[in-house]
Amino acid sequence: TYVVIDNCIACKYTDCVEVCPVDCFYEGENMLVIHPDECIDCGVCEPECPADAIRPDTEPGLESWVELNRKYAEVWPVITQRSDPMPEAEERDGEADKLSKYFS
Ligand code: SF4
Ligand code: F3S
Repeated sequence: TYVVIDNCIACKYTDCVEVCPVDCFYEGENMLVIHPDECIDCGVCEPECPADAIRPDTEPGLESWVELNRKYAEVWPVITQRSDPMPEAEERDGEADKLSKYFS
């Protein structure tokens, strides 16, 4: 599966949702997640993210992100159409520790 990681938080560009063939992105207040059981591993979303916030879970150290994606994909609504990024997306892009600072 692919998962959304830290740098999506407070950016939420949403370019990713337009290309997903199985509509497995879910939208929270300031982040999107991928449902790990619905993702078919096609990889087309990864290069679409301007914040470089999508990764294959074959990369080491992403276990907690897989669990976070799974947890919130079960409760957040699906998103299939692009919308405006967060107002501070450009300033926040690349900031460290966005999960502890901004996740809600
Ligand atoms: Fe959707 Fe493919 Fe990205 Fe998985 S890898 S979230 S199926 S676009
Ligand atoms: Fe987030 Fe990147 Fe999609 S910032 S909303 S994963 S395009």
